Amino acid sequence: MPKQYQSTSIPNSTKIWNHHLCNIYGNCKIGEECNIGTFVEIGPGVVIGNRVRIGAHCFIPEGVTIEDDCFIGPGVIFTNDRYPPGGKDAWRPIFVRKRVSIGAGSIILPGVEIGEGAMIGAGTVVTRNIPAGWRVVGNPARRILKKIFNCEKGEIK
Ligand SMILES: CC(C)(COP(=O)(O)OP(=O)(O)OC[C@H]1O[C@@H](n2cnc3c(N)ncnc32)[C@H](O)[C@@H]1OP(=O)(O)O)[C@@H](O)C(=O)NCCC(=O)NCCS
Repeated sequence: MPKQYQSTSIPNSTKIWNHHLCNIYGNCKIGEECNIGTFVEIGPGVVIGNRVRIGAHCFIPEGVTIEDDCFIGPGVIFTNDRYPPGGKDAWRPIFVRKRVSIGAGSIILPGVEIGEGAMIGAGTVVTRNIPAGWRVVGNPARRILKKIFNCEKGEIK
């Protein structure tokens, strides 16, 4: 039998490290083989895909969708109310596309979309949409490009 959290059902293949120390509200959709750390709050109607890893102390409120194979580091805060307290009509959704990795302690502002495979460095504040595959850091988030060296075999490319 899948575990029940109010009206949210958690597949057996998904591991929640401490059932007593997570708040998972109703009407969420949580996929297979996820891993959810301690002190995580997942708000009403949140959608989480398959094989998503969520570190301890994350806050994931109503309106957030996280697709398959994402990594959400510890202490990541998603937000939905741009000018709080704005009331539900003003809340904006967040979409985290497949294979995104979000570093520890990042903050994701309302209404943004993080494109497939993007990497968000630790402590980043994401204020705008991030295109697929970009690597961003800082407050506000800015793109970084790995230094490319034209060099002999064995050196960094
Ligand atoms: C972003 C990250 C992936 C590194 O990417 P990278 O392309 O290898 O970047 P580099 O280390 O070459 O750094 C490039 C520049 O960005 C800066 N930078 C790297 N990570 C940063 C961060 N999180 N915040 C601010 N600046 C950062 C570096 O200082 C460097 O700046 P410089 O060119 O002025 O010296 C890594 O720093 C990071 O934040 N990883 C997430 C760690 C984490 O939270 N893990 C969670 C599980 S515990």
